[in-house]
Amino acid sequence: MRILVTGGTGYIGSHTCVQLLERGDDVIIIDNLCNSEASVVDSLEKITGRRPVFYEADIRDREALDRIFSAYDPEVVIHFAGLKAVGESVSKPLEYYENNISGTLTLLEVMRAHDCRKMVFSSSATVYGTPASVPIREEFPTGGTTNPYGTTKLFLERILTDLTVSDPRWSVALLRYFNPIGAHQSGLIGDDPTGIPNNLMPYVTRVAKGTLPVLSVYGNDYPTHDGTGVRDYIHVEDLAAGHVAVLPCMKTPGVHIYNLGTGVGYSVLDIINAFERSTGVKIAYRITERRPGDIAECWSDPSRAAKELGWKAERTLEDMCRSAWNFEKSKA
Ligand code: NAD
Ligand code: UFG
Repeated sequence: MRILVTGGTGYIGSHTCVQLLERGDDVIIIDNLCNSEASVVDSLEKITGRRPVFYEADIRDREALDRIFSAYDPEVVIHFAGLKAVGESVSKPLEYYENNISGTLTLLEVMRAHDCRKMVFSSSATVYGTPASVPIREEFPTGGTTNPYGTTKLFLERILTDLTVSDPRWSVALLRYFNPIGAHQSGLIGDDPTGIPNNLMPYVTRVAKGTLPVLSVYGNDYPTHDGTGVRDYIHVEDLAAGHVAVLPCMKTPGVHIYNLGTGVGYSVLDIINAFERSTGVKIAYRITERRPGDIAECWSDPSRAAKELGWKAERTLEDMCRSAWNFEKSKA
């Protein structure tokens, strides 16, 4: 297939591109490099032996999109491009709404003009707000997002759903990711945030490497088995495989909603222990205050994706920790 991947040099996008290139798809990446490096394209070629087409372009740049669609006529768009830092979105709401929502609207208009009506969209478990119970199923209510980033995902889900109602030729997959961690087995691509990481695993690997002195564990008084926050961590290669698994659905018009998680929750202390056990490296940590906006626990019921897509996360927590550490060590 000819697949346009927005945000394809980013963390999840790059792992998905590996699998698309390996199965023979023609991959066209557009990314404005605001949170990734062009050298990822070289890594993709090293891993797969195939080089994707790459454009340094912004999804808000209608003329650039128009030229790329005219040149490549993609059949499907996998749309990863977006800003994703929860804390930053609170201080820069306009930037987040503008980039994520205006950017997606421009992309959708160009898709429609070029008769491309299939989009796989990166959504997030954040759209469930504070869930009434866990595990979370797709039919749980969405809403109650606690930050502008989460609200962009909620609004975009709604916009994409409205689009499928207005014109039955559209096919949209809303993939609700839980917590992707880990890296490609080659160690060539992985999660490499600039500055101080917001997310747990890149923080852990930098403490392991000695780049950061100590991990703050945000609260140990949650109603969970050890008091620390519980999440559904999923290996990024399993998450990437979920995008490949959903592609056949895109032949069927309408909205296709799937949780992509493992169905198992681990606490922050579980992650530290698993990291130490699987890598042999000790993690210095201290318990601090809760982080504002965090919820106690969040994990998925991934059975719909298993039943309908034949997709299941396969890699273990140890695989996730080892691959994240392998990537951190191999970075310059
Ligand atoms: P990432 O920042 O590594 O990748 C996103 C890419 O999009 C980056 O390479 C960035 O340069 C690019 N980008 C941003 N704005 C752009 C624009 N206007 N035009 C062109 N390119 C642009 O993030 P990721 O972790 O790979 O996340 C991918 C998607 O998945 C995002 O939409 C994110 O919100 C969503 N998501 C991520 C997580 C997570 O924990 N990583 C969880 C749920 C959902
Ligand atoms: N945590 C720490 N210390 C840290 C970082 C995180 O204790 O330095 C804890 C958090 O309190 C939480 C857990 O580790 O209990 C996971 O936190 P992350 O920041 O890694 O992930 P979140 O669950 O907060 O959010 C992530 C993405 C969101 C996405 C959400 C979907 O960052 O974009 O998963 O579930 F919406």
